[in-house]
Amino acid sequence: MKTFLLLIAVAGAAGTCRFPPQLWCSSEEIAIQCKVYQQCKESVWTVKTNAALVEFELYFESLCPDCRNFIKTQLFPTYTKVGSIMNITLVPYGNAREKQSGDRWVFTCQHGEQECIGNLLETCAIHTLKSIDRIMPFIHCMELSEYPLQSVQSCSQQLSVPLDPIMFCYNSTVGNTLEHKMAQKTEALNPPHKYVPWVVLNGVHTEKINDEAARDLLKLVCDTYTGTKPSACTATRAQLTGCAQSDL
Ligand SMILES: *[C@@H]1O[C@H](CO)[C@@H](O)[C@H](O)[C@H]1NC(C)=O
Ligand SMILES: *[C@@H]1O[C@H](CO)[C@@H](O)[C@H](O)[C@H]1NC(C)=O
Repeated sequence: MKTFLLLIAVAGAAGTCRFPPQLWCSSEEIAIQCKVYQQCKESVWTVKTNAALVEFELYFESLCPDCRNFIKTQLFPTYTKVGSIMNITLVPYGNAREKQSGDRWVFTCQHGEQECIGNLLETCAIHTLKSIDRIMPFIHCMELSEYPLQSVQSCSQQLSVPLDPIMFCYNSTVGNTLEHKMAQKTEALNPPHKYVPWVVLNGVHTEKINDEAARDLLKLVCDTYTGTKPSACTATRAQLTGCAQSDL
């Protein structure tokens, strides 16, 4: 407390901050003296606290127009901006049905055979690529096309992703088992899904969450995250304020 008062006194007497900028947030005293206490508190000091990632699950099917649109206009752009605060899980199955036939699962899809092919290819891509920074661009690329077997090839070229492991998975019991797991995950949803895209945020699905995700996923993710917001979140807020002001 003594040091604190002393520093304030020094600052008052000197009338200026006597430390170089790189030291301004090195202690509370210096921050106060240099009149940047609030700024340090909002940035440097809080960045260190580890907030939990926003758990984002998307239940979808490869050829549904609303799913494709959601991935294209909401999920992928949001991922590129604030992917660092998200833990994304993609479940390509949606409104499909499955039944066992011998030692394999047979799938029936809402948009026909092509959609089942797409779901399986995407499931295999997720399995093969493993990390979200490889998965997300690949699924986004595939969802831009209506022809899964062609897009898996062109996307693998475009994004320098080896095609063989994905096709091997696709043509094997590995893929069949993985798609069955996607079915089980989808069927375990509580409440059960009624449509796709179906969003689960931090373990919760509500109509409101789904609507907000479809309207402005970036805002939803930013608002949900409890840690220091990445700059892409703040940029949105500044823009919104700007709009509100110019509307007056
Ligand atoms: C992301 O979610 C998966 C699946 O729920 C979980 O296993 C994993 O631990 C999570 N990762 C992080 C970094 O939170
Ligand atoms: C995998 O399946 C595709 C599509 O059905 C087929 O064209 C291809 O020949 C198969 N590849 C292998 C290695 O079996």
